[in-house]
Amino acid sequence: MKIAISGKGGVGKTTLAACLAKYYTGKNFKVIAVDADPDANLASALGLDYESAVKIIPLVEIKELIEERTGAKSGEYGAYFKLNPKVDDIPQKFGIDVDGVRLLVAGTIRAGGSGCYCPENVLLKRLFKYLVVDMEEIIILDMEAGIEHLGRGTCENMDILIIVIEPGLRSIQTANSVIKMSKDLGIKSVYAVINKVKSDEEKQFLINNIGSLEVIGELPYSDKVRESDLKNYSPCISDLKFKVAIAETAEKISKLIRANQKGT
Ligand SMILES: Nc1ncnc2c1ncn2[C@@H]1O[C@H](COP(=O)(O)OP(=O)(O)O)[C@@H](O)[C@H]1O
Ligand SMILES: [Mg+2]
Repeated sequence: MKIAISGKGGVGKTTLAACLAKYYTGKNFKVIAVDADPDANLASALGLDYESAVKIIPLVEIKELIEERTGAKSGEYGAYFKLNPKVDDIPQKFGIDVDGVRLLVAGTIRAGGSGCYCPENVLLKRLFKYLVVDMEEIIILDMEAGIEHLGRGTCENMDILIIVIEPGLRSIQTANSVIKMSKDLGIKSVYAVINKVKSDEEKQFLINNIGSLEVIGELPYSDKVRESDLKNYSPCISDLKFKVAIAETAEKISKLIRANQKGT
């Protein structure tokens, strides 16, 4: 299954991506977590120590990889390069293991308008599109709010797009623009996870303002999760209430994907 996570900066995308990855790994699934946010910090959220996390070289910056697979130097425009580079061994060869989760740090995909056919974009797009996909393997994409540069094809292959929102209108505005992009890209399964909720009033506020977007998970505000970022440990081992909410959300997601796959 392929799960993409989007939403405004700071809402908790990386926290959710890391905790889902750890949850499914704990259930014996093979999990590949892809950090596709230019502001990459999924490694730390998975529990990798800071020194090792800052040393990770994003895929788009591994010049030999781009060159070897596409036949063109990175950053080269207009040159001939392969449109179907080999990607299936990339997780194994270029990913790093963090506590049983295979982590891939993608790096920044340059937007450059609709016609950005530079070699590194082609490689990443193909990677996102062709990774896996069977029920024993789970891909989790930690993305930024903008998903339009991924283009058609990449997103169509996702089983679910989750938009994280927090109590506040700004994250709802971002959610609305992500919904619009997802419609343009033909993504059918779009759900919200509400995060950092402190009270029933806050939850109601979100539900009243998200229109027809369905909520698939509710994560409470947790001082421990906040502290995990300050002290650099994984938020997923924080408090029980938060852990239970992650488990419920993860189960709902996999159930929904299974149901959709049976239906198609
Ligand atoms: N449920 C929560 N309770 C408290 N703090 C949270 C919660 N979820 C996320 N945070 C904190 O909010 C900040 C942003 O979270 P992060 O997952 O990095 O967001 P994003 O990836 O969307 O930018 C971090 O400091 C994180 O610890
Ligand atoms: Mg993030």
